[in-house]
Amino acid sequence: MARILIEGGHPLSGEVLVGGAKNAALPIMAATILTSDTVHLSNIPRLNDVETMQKVLRALGGSSEWEDAGKLKIKCNGGIQEEAPYELVKTMRASFFVMGPLLSRLKRARVPLPGGCAIGTRPVNIHLKGFEALGAKVSIDGGFAVAVADRLIGTGIHLDFPSVGATENLMMAASLAEGSTTIENAAQEPEIIDLGNFLNSMGAKIQGTGGPTIQVEGVHSLHGGNYRVIPDRIDAGTFLVLGAVAHGPLTILNANPSHQIGVMAKLQEMGATIAVNEDRMTVECPGRLRGADVKTLPYPGFPTDMQAQFTVAMSVAQGTSLVTESVFENRFMHIAELVRMGANLNIRDRTVVVNGVEKLIGAPVSASDLRAGAAMVMAGLIAEGHTEVSNVFHIERGYENLVERLSGLGANIRRIEDSKGPTENNRR
Ligand code: EPZ
Repeated sequence: MARILIEGGHPLSGEVLVGGAKNAALPIMAATILTSDTVHLSNIPRLNDVETMQKVLRALGGSSEWEDAGKLKIKCNGGIQEEAPYELVKTMRASFFVMGPLLSRLKRARVPLPGGCAIGTRPVNIHLKGFEALGAKVSIDGGFAVAVADRLIGTGIHLDFPSVGATENLMMAASLAEGSTTIENAAQEPEIIDLGNFLNSMGAKIQGTGGPTIQVEGVHSLHGGNYRVIPDRIDAGTFLVLGAVAHGPLTILNANPSHQIGVMAKLQEMGATIAVNEDRMTVECPGRLRGADVKTLPYPGFPTDMQAQFTVAMSVAQGTSLVTESVFENRFMHIAELVRMGANLNIRDRTVVVNGVEKLIGAPVSASDLRAGAAMVMAGLIAEGHTEVSNVFHIERGYENLVERLSGLGANIRRIEDSKGPTENNRR
């Protein structure tokens, strides 16, 4: 398994390129099932999760190959299977996004329940309830979610929680349904807007994405085309926090600043300065950051995917900070790892009380999930001494060329392969 070795304490500055959004690319790749035409996607990040989604599409009977850097050619023509393979879905829960498109196209779908992961049980009840509302008969059979429908009829659906995945699955299921579907209490993330724009580019009729109510007018069929995926706002946000806590100035290129309002506001409250223009942001904080309070919420609230990174920055900030995680029930796996580096953190139910310390001390630590892993790398970069991060496969699910990009900013960092097996199960 790979490990990342870091010698901390070096100020980081310079320019870094942000890649395409993983969490937009994955549902958009699933949505290609809705047409038998060829689809060309660009600005697709070269990540393990994207490779996994390609394998899922191929297992279903489609084809997917890289045409050039960041460019995928996908064609789901001919005999598309209704069943997604367990061995792939268990490794990446986003594979569950194929359920809506399969149900929409075949009126049948058999997809393994994705199961939980380090950050929570990750149920899919909201997805399944929505499929039933559209007229599907849903059952659980041997760990698979099964949905069958004679017809999918547009209807009103109210989500118990603005689930990103459920909103996306239901947008895709409703695209070819008969009549109009209204999704209330929908997720409003930029990735929802991107999926809606992609579906509309294929001939769908979707309005209201980015707001709490999405309207889908079912159409008879969808066609192929070309589409460029938005920049990855969590990749960009991670580097914004890094530039602040490692002093900068650090310029993030190819980003979309309008996706970073909550993150930038919090960093500015903590004492960082951020200059914004068009597709770039420059962040710096010559002195020590000040503590602040943050609560994760569905977009446009503060993003849960940025919680671990901010906890690292707050752990060396002046004063006390409160970090409350309201989206996932178990997204504090990095806390114990940070305490091993000298952070002064105490969990009180869903809130971490962060008492800022002068500095962290390098140590061997482990990545528990994608964003916590990135946070541990950030902690190693700002700590005194040497840090070794294991279970790097988590990080490589969502951060393209992370070590190379950090080296370009002045970090003393390298990735090593060794014979050790994973110290956690392979579920992601
Ligand atoms: C998406 O996951 C993202 N993943 C996550 O990013 C992100 O953290 C999350 O949205 C929230 O923003 C992708 O887009 C591939 P949810 P998703 O459904 O869709 C509960 C990363 O680091 N819930 O919005 O699975 C659920 O348990 C990943 O890139 C139900 O109860 O998130 C959770 O507590 C991590 N029933 C909350 O809603 C359901 O049917 C939010 O989940 C669905 C969700």
